[in-house]
Amino acid sequence: PDVTDEMLASSARDTEHLRLLRELGVKSAMIVPLMTRGHTLGTITLVVSAESGRQYTELDLALAEELARRAALAVDNARLYAEAQQLNAELEERVAQRTADLQAAIAQLESSRAQLLLLAQHEQIRREEDRARMAREVHDELGQALTGLKMDLAWLQKHTGPKQQDLLQKFRDMSDLVDTTIQGVRRIATELRPGMLDDLGLVPAMEWQLQEFQKRSGIRCRFRSSLEEVALDAEETTVLFRILQEALTNVARHASATRVDVSLDEEQGYVSLRVQDNGRGITESEVSGSKSFGLLGMRERVLLRSGDFDIQGTPGQGTTMMIKLPLVKGQEAL
Ligand SMILES: Nc1ncnc2c1ncn2[C@@H]1O[C@H](COP(=O)(O)OP(=O)(O)OP(=O)(O)O)[C@@H](O)[C@H]1O
Ligand SMILES: [Mg+2]
Repeated sequence: PDVTDEMLASSARDTEHLRLLRELGVKSAMIVPLMTRGHTLGTITLVVSAESGRQYTELDLALAEELARRAALAVDNARLYAEAQQLNAELEERVAQRTADLQAAIAQLESSRAQLLLLAQHEQIRREEDRARMAREVHDELGQALTGLKMDLAWLQKHTGPKQQDLLQKFRDMSDLVDTTIQGVRRIATELRPGMLDDLGLVPAMEWQLQEFQKRSGIRCRFRSSLEEVALDAEETTVLFRILQEALTNVARHASATRVDVSLDEEQGYVSLRVQDNGRGITESEVSGSKSFGLLGMRERVLLRSGDFDIQGTPGQGTTMMIKLPLVKGQEAL
């Protein structure tokens, strides 16, 4: 059907639009909607002017509708693509933000862990100093007082008449008791800080420790060392000795073992200490459980010096503890 002037007037947006439409001399028109996924994106208007003498047919309309459908699809796809791009960019930004947050948190954790390690190291050094001081005090003060008592007793014995046998017997008993006490004091002082650790070095101190352990626990000990002239500083020596003490205490307390083999070796810039018992065998959960401080303390002492700590058990066959400490000074000397 022809397009009438009323039709133009009713479809024009404003007077300027109407003027343009009239100028074109619109004769025939099609308005097809751009529809996709249930909503309309817009419309396409097609017109032919009077001059061309043409009129749109049903076929033209079908063609226009098909074109509009495809155009709408393309527009919609472009919009979806842009939205996806936008979401993607937002997501990437959020991921980057989270990564940065996590990295900051990790850095903070690492720095507090480093501080804790330093603190632990400091504590350990102080504890060793305290022990050494206590060992000295126990040894010197108690030792001297007891020696004084022993001399007094000797004096009393000398000045007691031979007729007073019961008194003399009493003095002898007292003197024996003072001797036992002196030995006790020496033992306690040595346990607090084995003097031979400083005087003789690690290997003899470990030998002595194992002899003592065997005497007291009845567990047979074997010690083997290939360590010769290795430059261990006082701290490394103390670490290794304390770890041996703790390991032996654990064997006596938990292992139900009849034998312990201890070996001390030097290999590729490391000194390694191995303590192997033939007891019930530590379990996985005992290794990872953190209720007790023995294993934790040993691990910490070793990690503080960038070493390795490992303990493993086989049920019914025993437990092997293995530690390695880097020999920083020893390497420098080579
Ligand atoms: N040689 C061993 N054989 C078998 N089990 C062991 C051995 N050493 C340790 N364990 C087990 O591992 C646990 C943890 O040992 P850890 O030395 O940390 O603690 P603890 O000896 O119980 O207490 P403490 O804090 O006084 O040392 C022990 O309770 C014990 O069950
Ligand atoms: Mg323990």
